[in-house]
Amino acid sequence: MTRTPVNVTVTGAAGQIGYALLFRIASGHLLGPDTPVRLRLLEIPQAVNAAEGTAMELDDCAFPLLSGIDITDDAKTAFDGVNIALLVGARPRSKGMERGDLLSANGGIFKPQGEAINAGAAEDVRVLVVGNPANTNALIAQQHAPDVPAERFTAMTRLDHNRALAQLSKKLGVSLGDIKKLTIWGNHSATQYPDLFHAEVNGTSAAAAVGDQEWLEGTFIPTVAKRGAAIIEARGLSSAASAANAAIDHVYSWVNGTPEGDWTSAAVVSDGSYGVPEGLISSFPVVASGGRYEIVQGLEIDEFSRGRIDASVAELVEERDAVKALGLI
Ligand code: NAD
Ligand code: LMR
Repeated sequence: MTRTPVNVTVTGAAGQIGYALLFRIASGHLLGPDTPVRLRLLEIPQAVNAAEGTAMELDDCAFPLLSGIDITDDAKTAFDGVNIALLVGARPRSKGMERGDLLSANGGIFKPQGEAINAGAAEDVRVLVVGNPANTNALIAQQHAPDVPAERFTAMTRLDHNRALAQLSKKLGVSLGDIKKLTIWGNHSATQYPDLFHAEVNGTSAAAAVGDQEWLEGTFIPTVAKRGAAIIEARGLSSAASAANAAIDHVYSWVNGTPEGDWTSAAVVSDGSYGVPEGLISSFPVVASGGRYEIVQGLEIDEFSRGRIDASVAELVEERDAVKALGLI
């Protein structure tokens, strides 16, 4: 292997998403079969042992693309020279915890991580935030990394995108490859808006192919938006393998591009497009080329979609104002 390894840092590496993610990164699914990777695992001190156990298993896979693994509980060390940062570790909401407490606890994680990225990351660093509340955690990290171009900070709505694809393909009895241009707008939360009005099935309007506004409003949108909660209810734990898979998809598209004639969904820094306040990290239809995500421009937004997008964006504004009031940004 002659190429220089890409430094990939995974936070929360000993958690359940970490366990589903690391083996796929090391086997070449994140960046492709020709790119060696060096893994940096960041954990809290109490979970470093568990991360070491996962590293032993990674060694035991003898992955040809895995050129090394470092484990640390220090953010500065973890992000030194990082090319791809996957911020998975976050503080989950516990019983009786208020929203402000949750935002504050996560501010305590994402502020120093943003600062460490600012201090030591490689020039081409790309950051994906998975840990919830993902959009606002990404905003906190981005705000503390003033020397890194803002567009390098993203949050994950690819899992919501994949969930929407799966629901639509089942409803219409079409294969996943027949569906294009689906969009998740807004926040990775129950207010998100999975949009079928711009989506196409075999080149024709997906909304027209469904032809059933009641299903769209009463089944499709809530099923996608509340899927995370449904999985927690069924599994007793939040989604892990599907979340890891979506993180792989998000980064793979970012680096390798989206296919011609299609787009995907990602939460990226708003440039004011579609009335989303500049600077918010909100989900949009995006294409990737040349290693950049760009917001798809010029889509017509009807009244129904407008209301849904605005509601989710209003929630993001509230979260931003709450972290501002807490002095986190
Ligand atoms: P988990 O509890 O199994 O693992 C989280 C890990 O993060 C733990 O090992 C913990 O020790 C670690 N951690 C906590 N604080 C840390 C810090 N400051 N630095 C480094 N590591 C730290 O949780 P999980 O199931 O792996 O989920 C991780 C996060 O991803 C959660 O916030 C979850 O809600 C979120 N999630 C997001 C999506 C999405 O689509 N965006 C989907 C699923 C889950
Ligand atoms: C998901 O969408 O599966 C998760 O974000 C749910 C959660 O709250 O961890």
